[in-house]
Parts: sequence; structure tokens; C-alpha cells
Amino acid sequence: MADQQGYGLLKGKKGLIFGALDERSIAWRIALACQREGAEFSLSNAPVALRFGELDDLAEETGAKVIPCDVSNEEDVEELMQKVKEEHGKIDFMLHAIGMSPNVRKNKGYEELNYQWMQKTLDISAVSLHKVIRYADEADILNDGASILALSYIGAQRIFSKYSDMNDAKALLESIARNYGSRLADRGIRVNTISQAPTKTSAGSGIKGFDGMYTFAEKIAPLGNPSADECADYCVTLFSDLTRKVTMQNLYHDGGFVTAGIDEEMINDLAEMYADEDE
Ligand SMILES: NC(=O)c1ccc[n+]([C@@H]2O[C@H](COP(=O)([O-])OP(=O)(O)OC[C@H]3O[C@@H](n4cnc5c(N)ncnc54)[C@H](O)[C@@H]3O)[C@@H](O)[C@H]2O)c1
Repeated sequence: MADQQGYGLLKGKKGLIFGALDERSIAWRIALACQREGAEFSLSNAPVALRFGELDDLAEETGAKVIPCDVSNEEDVEELMQKVKEEHGKIDFMLHAIGMSPNVRKNKGYEELNYQWMQKTLDISAVSLHKVIRYADEADILNDGASILALSYIGAQRIFSKYSDMNDAKALLESIARNYGSRLADRGIRVNTISQAPTKTSAGSGIKGFDGMYTFAEKIAPLGNPSADECADYCVTLFSDLTRKVTMQNLYHDGGFVTAGIDEEMINDLAEMYADEDE
């Protein structure tokens, strides 16, 4: 992790951060890292999360304004962008760290999805990226060269059974990032997703079998699972001017998990476990 002083990578930059709920939230850690690097920003979350979460504490700590917005409500998103305009004029970065699946919450397996809930999952966790970019663009608040990031998960590419319809939502999220990235590139605006390893947050822990997924990834990834603070450091580089030509990418931040094949220790344990059966 960068030291308390930071590197001044976001000095003079302004942004909008969605998805900080409590201090474990990845967006919360990202907001602190952005502040450390010299950025000013507004924070947004759904009204219900503002009632039950602790966002005011983060706002106080970072001097940020909190602007409520339920991203499943198009008018809310449109209004939010007007308020951001009043607050900052134009912005240089935007973080989408929003995910929610009623099917996962209520433990509905993939073969028995409730389709109304699935629509919610896709709307809140993926289509919302399209909405926030569209209405930010329509309000003309995106500076040329701005950087937009959304948080994804490797369930978009590989099968993680417990992640249910969130796997589909992440695949759509990554596709929207690519498609919008191609349309904003003429203004130097970048749109990327970061595919973060399992992280112990409120959304993460809400997935049945999360501890097993976390431990499996931790064992397979040569560098181990990155923390939310390490994810925040990576996001800072992508919001900064040091990555001006990185766009339309899904960038793995997973300690090497996506490329790793086997873990020797795990193989040895398995060999020992099944040794009796082979005899
Ligand atoms: N925790 C993990 O293991 C992990 C791994 C990879 C990617 N991610 C992704 O990171 C992002 C942040 O999740 P997190 O793990 O920090 O959990 P979190 O629960 O702290 O954050 C999820 C946020 O989404 C917000 N949200 C839900 N519905 C909303 C709505 N209708 N309008 C506006 N906001 C809404 C919640 O209020 C919450 O702040 C999500 O996209 C998640 O899928 C998480």
C-alpha cells in the first residue's frame, strides 16, 4: 500500500464515487485512496443504503458531498448528474462499485432463477453502468481524458456456481464498458473494468459459500488475494494520467489467479487425501 502521503497522482482531479456502504466496501477504500492522492469527489449510494450505512462518516472524513441515487431509477440518475454539475462543474473520474442480486441474496440457484429478480440483478449491477455514463455525458460533465471504472468479477468468464445470475450481470457489465469505451475514445475518455478477487465486504459475504471461494482463490493465486486497499491503489493508477491509453479492457486484479493452473500444496494435499483409494 502507498504511504499516508500518497503520490499526488490525482491532484486537481474531481470525481464521482458510487457504492461505498461501510468501511469494508471496496468503494470506501477507493474513496480514501483518491483523497490521499489529492482528488475531490462526491459520493453516491441508494437512499436505503444511506439510511442503514455509514456513508456520512466517510463524507465527513473526506470532505465529500453525499448525493443519494437509486441507479435503478433513471430520473434519479439524471438528477444526480445535474447535482454533480452544480458541485464540481466537470469531473475527471467516475467509479461504479454497485452490485446486487436478489437471487443470490435469497439463495436461488441458477436453474431456478426468479426472472423478475434477475431483471433487477442485471439492471442494478450492469445496465446502471450504461445509465451513469449516458447521463453524465448528456449533462456534459465528463472532462476530455476522464477515466471511468467499474468493478467486475471473474465469474464473467468462468463458472462460479454460487454466484448465480451475478455471473451474467458481470459479463454484461464488461460488455457495456467496452461498448461505451469505443464511443467515448475520441475524447480521450477511458472506460475499463477491474476484475477484483473475492474480497470480504458486505456484498461479498452475502454470497453463500463465499468463504470457500475466498480460500480457494487465496490458495491458487500466486500472489494471494488482493485486499480492498490494494484494489484502491490499482484504481488510483487508472484514474491518473499515467494510464491515458488504457481503455475497453477488463483488468484482472487477482494476484495471478486467472493465469495460474495448479497449486502444488493443494495438489499434494489432494494426493494424500485420496492415497488410500488408489491402493
Ligand atoms: N466483494 C467481492 O468479493 C467482490 C469481488 C469482485 C467484484 N466486486 C464488486 O465490487 C463492487 C462493490 O461491492 P463490495 O464488495 O464493495 O460490496 P458493498 O456491499 O460494500 O457494495 C455494493 C454497493 O452497491 C450499492 N447498491 C446496491 N443497489 C443499489 C442501487 N439500486 N443504487 C445504488 N447503489 C446500489 C450498495 O448500497 C453498496 O454500497 C460490486 O460491483 C461487486 O460486485 C466485489
